[in-house]
Amino acid sequence: MADLKERAPQRLNKRPEEDVGPPVVEIRKLWTRFGRTVVHQDLNLDIYAGEILTIVGGSGTGKTVLLRQMLGLERPSEGCVKVFGEDISQADPEHLQHMRNHWGMLFQQGALYSALSVFDNIAFPMRELRALPEDVIRDAVLLKMDMVGLGPEHANKMPSDLSGGMVKRAALARALALEPRLLFLDEPTAGLDPDLSDAFVSLIQTLHSELKLTVVMVTHDLDTLFALSSRIAVLAEKHVLAVGPACDVLRVQHPFIKHFFLGPRGQRALEVLEERHAQNESED
Ligand SMILES: Nc1ncnc2c1ncn2[C@@H]1O[C@H](COP(=O)(O)OP(=O)(O)OP(=O)(O)O)[C@@H](O)[C@H]1O
Ligand SMILES: [Mg+2]
Repeated sequence: MADLKERAPQRLNKRPEEDVGPPVVEIRKLWTRFGRTVVHQDLNLDIYAGEILTIVGGSGTGKTVLLRQMLGLERPSEGCVKVFGEDISQADPEHLQHMRNHWGMLFQQGALYSALSVFDNIAFPMRELRALPEDVIRDAVLLKMDMVGLGPEHANKMPSDLSGGMVKRAALARALALEPRLLFLDEPTAGLDPDLSDAFVSLIQTLHSELKLTVVMVTHDLDTLFALSSRIAVLAEKHVLAVGPACDVLRVQHPFIKHFFLGPRGQRALEVLEERHAQNESED
C-alpha cells in the first residue's frame, strides 16, 4: 500500500486568506470502491464559507461521485463527510432530505425533468416541501427565473424547446429554488458556446456575491475555472493532490497539473487572469 504520508496534499495555502471559521464541508479519510476499483483513497478536503472551490481532475477520477457524496446521494466506502458540521453518512433519510433543502445542485447530466415545464421544474423542490401555497410558489418561481435572466414568457416552455444556455439557467433557478447556502455545480458551462459560457460565469459571480453562497464546482473549462475559483482542488492519484489558490496550485510540479493548466488553452486563460488582476490593481 502507498505510504500515506507521501499522499498528503501538497502544503499550499490550504485555507482561504481571510479567517472564515470552520469548514462548511469537511471530508476526512474518504475511500470509494466500486467492486475492486478504487476511485478515492484516503481523500481529505475542507471547503469554507463563502468560497468558490473548484475541483478539477481527469475524466473518471471521481469528481461527480465526490459531489454526490457531499450531497449524501452516495455513501463513501470509508471515511466521513461532514456538511455544516453534521456527518451526513450518519444522518437518517428524513433529516438528510431536510439538510439537502439548504443545498442547491446543478447536475452534470439531466439538468431538468424533461416531462415538466420550466415553471414546474423550478416549482418542484418548493412543492416537495408541501408547506407553501401555490400563489407563494408562483411568485417565488418567477423571482428565481428573473434572477437567472429568464423572462416569464419562458415559464410554460418544455425543456426540449429551450436552448442549451436557457436549460442551464432554468436548472440554476431550480437549484436556487429553496434559497440554498451551499451550491454544487457539476460542469456548469459544458456544452455552452463561449458567449453563453461567459454570460453564465457572470451570472454565477453575481449570484455568489449577492446571495453569499458557498459554491463547490467541478469544471474542465479553464476560463470558467479561473474566472470563478477562490481555490482549486486537484483530484489525481485517487486523492486531493493539491489545494489552494490558482497561483499556488499552478506551481505544483505534477504531470496532470502541467498538462491541464499549462497547455496552450491554460496559457491563454492565465494571461486573461493576469490582465484582469493588473486591471483590478490599477483601479484600486
Ligand atoms: N455506481 C457506480 N458503479 C460503478 N462504478 C461507478 C459508479 N459511479 C461511478 N463509477 C465509476 O467511478 C469513477 C468516477 O466516476 P465519476 O463520474 O465521478 O468521474 P468524473 O471525475 O466525474 O468524470 P467526468 O470528468 O468524465 O465527469 C468512474 O470510473 C465511474 O465509472
Ligand atoms: Mg463527472
